[in-house]
Amino acid sequence: MLVLLNPAPVPVDRSVAVRSTVAVVQPILRGVPLRRLLRDWVHLLRPAVVLLAAVGAFLLIRSAVIPKAFGQLGHYRPGALDLIRSHPISYAGQETCALCHDSEAATRAAGKHAHVACETCHGPLASHAQDPSIKPKLPEVANLCRRCHEQDAAKPKKFPQVVTTEHSGGMPCNSCHQPHNPKP
Ligand code: HEC
Ligand code: HEC
Ligand code: HEC
Ligand code: HEC
Repeated sequence: MLVLLNPAPVPVDRSVAVRSTVAVVQPILRGVPLRRLLRDWVHLLRPAVVLLAAVGAFLLIRSAVIPKAFGQLGHYRPGALDLIRSHPISYAGQETCALCHDSEAATRAAGKHAHVACETCHGPLASHAQDPSIKPKLPEVANLCRRCHEQDAAKPKKFPQVVTTEHSGGMPCNSCHQPHNPKP
C-alpha cells in the first residue's frame, strides 16, 4: 500500500501490463474521482456493442443448429443411436468363425497366432458368416505377413520380426509357415 502511494523510481523496462495497471490504480488510491477517470467511457461503448452483438449471434446460431433432443440421454444426440444401428455389421467375431471352422480354430489356438483374431487376417467376413455360399477371398500372403513381421526398430525387441526379403529368399511365407500355426 505504502509502496503504491509512494512509488519507487520507475524502472525503465516495465511491461505494458504493469504500466497500465499502475496508470489506473495510482489515481484511485490518490483519491482522484472515478468519474474523472472514466470521462472517456464513450470509447468503450462501441466495442461493447460489437461484443454483445457477437455473443447474441453466437447464442442465436447455437440454438438454431443444435438438435432439439440433444442431451436427453447424455451429451449426444439420441437419433445418432438409430443411425449407428442402421449401419450393416462388417465383423462377425471369431467365436462365430469357430462354430463352423473348428479345425482352423484349434490349429490357431495351439500356436503363436492364438491371439490374432481370424478377421485381422481374413478381413471383415460377417456376410460370409451369415451366408457361407458367399465365398471369401483368401488373404494375400505376400503383404499380410509383412504388415506385422517386417523388421522395424520401433517394434518391441521381443516381437518376432524379420527382414522379409532376405529371410524368405523370395519364396512365399506360407511355403514354410502355416498361417494358422506359424512355427516353422
Ligand atoms: C455358418 C458356417 C460358417 C461360418 C460362421 C463361417 N464360415 Fe467360413 N466357410 C464356411 C463354409 C461351408 C466354407 C466352405 C465354402 C467352400 O469351400 O465352398 C467356408 C469357407 C471359408 C474360407 C475358405 C475359402 C476358400 O477359398 O477356401 C475362409 C477363409 C473362411 N471360410 C473364413 C471364415 C471366417 C474368417 C469366418 C468368421 C468371420 C467364417 N469363415 C465363418 C462356413 C462358415
Ligand atoms: C495370421 C493370419 C491368419 C489368421 C489369424 C487366421 N487365418 Fe485363416 N488363413 C490365413 C491365410 C494366409 C490363409 C491362406 C493360406 C494359403 O493360401 O495357403 C488362410 C486360410 C484359411 C482357410 C482356408 C483353408 C486353409 O486352411 O487354407 C480357412 C477356412 C481359414 N483360413 C479360416 C480361419 C479361421 C476360422 C481363423 C480364426 C480361428 C483364421 N483363419 C485365422 C491367415 C490367417
Ligand atoms: C496382425 C498381426 C500378424 C499378422 C498379420 C501375422 N502375424 Fe505372425 N505373429 C503375430 C503375433 C502377435 C505373434 C506372436 C508374438 C509373440 O508371441 O511374441 C506372431 C508370431 C509369429 C511367428 C513366431 C512363431 C513361433 O512359434 O515363434 C511366426 C513365424 C509368424 N508369426 C509368422 C507369420 C506369417 C508367416 C504370417 C503371414 C501368414 C504372419 N505371421 C502374420 C502377429 C501377426
Ligand atoms: C524357406 C522357408 C521360409 C520362408 C519362405 C519364410 N520363413 Fe520365416 N522362418 C523360417 C525358419 C526356418 C525360421 C526359424 C529359424 C529362424 O529364426 O530363422 C523362421 C522364422 C520366422 C520368424 C520368427 C523370427 C524370430 O525372431 O522368432 C518370423 C517372424 C518369420 N519367420 C516370418 C516370415 C515371413 C513374414 C515370411 C514371408 C516374407 C517368412 N517367414 C518366410 C523359414 C522360412
